Amino acid sequence: TPRVFSGIQPSGHLTLGNYLGALKRFGEMQEEDYETIYCIVDLHAITVWQEPEKLREATRMLAAGFIATGVDPSKSILFNQSGVPEHTQLAWIFNCVARMGWLNRMTQFKDKSGKNRDSASTGLFVYPNLMSADILVYHATHVPVGEDQKQHVELARDTAIKFNTDYGTDFFPIPEPVIEGSATRVMSLRDGTKKMSKSDPSDMSRINLTDDADAIAQKIRKAKTDPEALPSEPGGLDGRAEAKNLVNIYAALADVTPAAVLAEMGGLQFSEFKPKLAELAVARLSPISTEMARLMQDPAEIDRILAAGSARAREVAQPILKRAYDIVGMVG
Ligand code: TYM
Repeated sequence: TPRVFSGIQPSGHLTLGNYLGALKRFGEMQEEDYETIYCIVDLHAITVWQEPEKLREATRMLAAGFIATGVDPSKSILFNQSGVPEHTQLAWIFNCVARMGWLNRMTQFKDKSGKNRDSASTGLFVYPNLMSADILVYHATHVPVGEDQKQHVELARDTAIKFNTDYGTDFFPIPEPVIEGSATRVMSLRDGTKKMSKSDPSDMSRINLTDDADAIAQKIRKAKTDPEALPSEPGGLDGRAEAKNLVNIYAALADVTPAAVLAEMGGLQFSEFKPKLAELAVARLSPISTEMARLMQDPAEIDRILAAGSARAREVAQPILKRAYDIVGMVG
């Protein structure tokens, strides 16, 4: 069976973007014909500064988020990255396979390091190599992610190909990004040209999975739009980034296409559409936040789930890592 791997960083709160671009698909793929492995990438998170206690809390909160959105730890392997040392062991090999020029082209590094590259951590630069290791240490073939991670998955492909070519082997399968649905790039509610992000300084720019019904309704009511009514076909959204974003969010939450949303709602003003969107968002998201809060009441149980997941993950990763070290020429 094809094997799915994906990860999310425990930095800040989960957003609607994480849910529609990734988490929602994770639960669905678990029920399809895949073996599914999902990871809380705590080692990726520390490429930028994290307060230790907040990191621990965010890791448990993210575990609760995975479970509340439908990842079942008895059907999928759910664990945190630092519980499986094979990730970093393979990442070292990939630090020696991937080229400086490849990493220099990564747009996320350019965005996150900003103008002052000299003060970015070295981990932030080699971050994509650890991500390649996450995927390939399980020989995963399918990687469900949002649009913004596509470049990193392509780097993982290039790294697998170069390893195979350099060592004259077909050891690593070439993983495929799975970028599906109408909300693969959810935009900020304040600025239709920026991605919705957990690190945006404005909380009004995003919907957090932990927001209550009032907060969700208020953020949608205040979301930036234009003065035109909704068109009746998707073509009518061209050049209207904010309008398009809200229609895409509606479609993804309702599990229909944007065309179907517009066929029904075309002609409505935003003053009429926004309350419908808010109602749908609250209906979909409030059971998730309630369940997350319930799970967070027993952090010891969450830690047990992650430890059990790490043990299962290691059973898959250990023999693959051993073989990779053997191919490279390590004794032992
Ligand atoms: P991260 O933690 O930034 O985001 C987790 C997932 O959410 C998706 N996403 C979005 N999708 C749509 N619209 C948005 N506004 C939006 N914001 C975030 C991301 O695309 C991602 O799928 N490097 C990764 C984590 C990672 C990983 C991996 C992923 C580490 N190792 C191996 C896949 C496979 C990251 O920082 O995602």
